[in-house]
Amino acid sequence: MTDGRAATARGPGRVNLIGEHTDYNGGLALPFPIAAGCTVRAEAIDGLDVVAVAEDLGEEDRFPLADVQPAEGWRAFVRGMVAELARAGFTVRPARVTISADLPRGGGLSSSAALEVALALAWLALSGEEDADRVELARLCSRVENDWVGARTGLLDQLAALAGAPGHALRIDFATLALDPVPLQPDGWRLVVLDSGAPHTLSAQDGYNVRRAECERAAAELGVRWLSQADPAAASRLPEPLDRRVEHVLTENARVDATVAALRAGDLAAVGPLLDASHASLRDLYDASVPAVEQARARMLEAGAAGARMMGGGFGGSVLALFPPGAQAPPEAIAVEPGLPARVLA
Ligand code: GLA
Repeated sequence: MTDGRAATARGPGRVNLIGEHTDYNGGLALPFPIAAGCTVRAEAIDGLDVVAVAEDLGEEDRFPLADVQPAEGWRAFVRGMVAELARAGFTVRPARVTISADLPRGGGLSSSAALEVALALAWLALSGEEDADRVELARLCSRVENDWVGARTGLLDQLAALAGAPGHALRIDFATLALDPVPLQPDGWRLVVLDSGAPHTLSAQDGYNVRRAECERAAAELGVRWLSQADPAAASRLPEPLDRRVEHVLTENARVDATVAALRAGDLAAVGPLLDASHASLRDLYDASVPAVEQARARMLEAGAAGARMMGGGFGGSVLALFPPGAQAPPEAIAVEPGLPARVLA
C-alpha cells in the first residue's frame, strides 16, 4: 500500500536454474524469482530516526537518519539501505519499517536479496520514487550487501529478484547486463529445491571469497577483465587450481546457453543432464560441494530426478532438481516456479 504515509513492498527469493559463479566473472546465468520472499512495510514517522522491527526475531533497531553507523546481522541491511539510498540521491524519509519473511534464512534461496529489494522498494514508494531503474537498484542493493553486510556477492540474486518475469527464467549476461526472459513452462515437469541442512555459515562465505580471489588472480594472469573472456587453451596452462576454476566458468556459460536453447525448444528432458553437468563442474572443478549437499542431491536422484545440482554460492545451501511428470520428489522438497519480481503491493 502507498498513500504517502505508508508503503508495503515484497521482495522474492530466487532460484538459479543454471549458471553458478558466473556473475562475478562476466558470464551468464538463468535465475527466476519465486513466490516465497520477504515483505517490508514502511510507515513515515515524525522525528529524525529510523525504527526497524524484525518481526520473526522479535528484535528492534533505532538509529538517526543523519548518522548511520554499521551494525551486525539483519540491522546491517536496514542501515546500509538507508545510507546507500541517500548516497544515490533518493529521498529517505524517517520511517518505521517492519520486516517479515517466509523464506528460510541460509537455505540458499537468497533471503538477503529478498530483504534488500523489499527494503529499497518500500522506502522508495514512501517518496513516490519506486519507478527507479531496476538495474541501478540491483547495483545499489548489491552495494548494501558488499559494503555493509560484508558479503562479496555478485549481482545474480538482486537482478533475479528485481527483473524476473512470471513464467520465465531470466538470461542475464553479466558482462553487458543484457536481460533476456526465456519462457519456462514446465508442462508436467517440476523443479524442486531441497535444503541440504548445511547452512550458509561464515565458512561458506569464506569459501566463496576464496573462489572470488582465485578468479581475480586467474583473470589477472590471463590479462582479461573477466574470466568469461578467457581463451580456453591459455586457461588450461594456468597453475592448478586456477585452470580448473576457469574451465568451470567457461563450460558453465556454455551450459546456460544450452539450457536456454532447450527451453526455447520446449525440450525439458534435455535440461536434466545439463543440471548434472553443472553440478559435476561445481564439485570437481570449482570444489564448492560439501557432504550434506552430495547427500541431498543423491536423495533427489534416487527419487527419480532427471538432473540435480547444488545451487547458489555452494558450501551448503539447497539442491535444485528437475522431476519428470509422474515422479515423486522427496516430501520435504519445495516445488518452485517463476513468480512475480519485487513489487510495491497495492
Ligand atoms: C551467491 C551469490 C551470487 C552468485 C552465486 C553463485 O548466491 O550471492 O552473487 O555469485 O552465489 O552463482
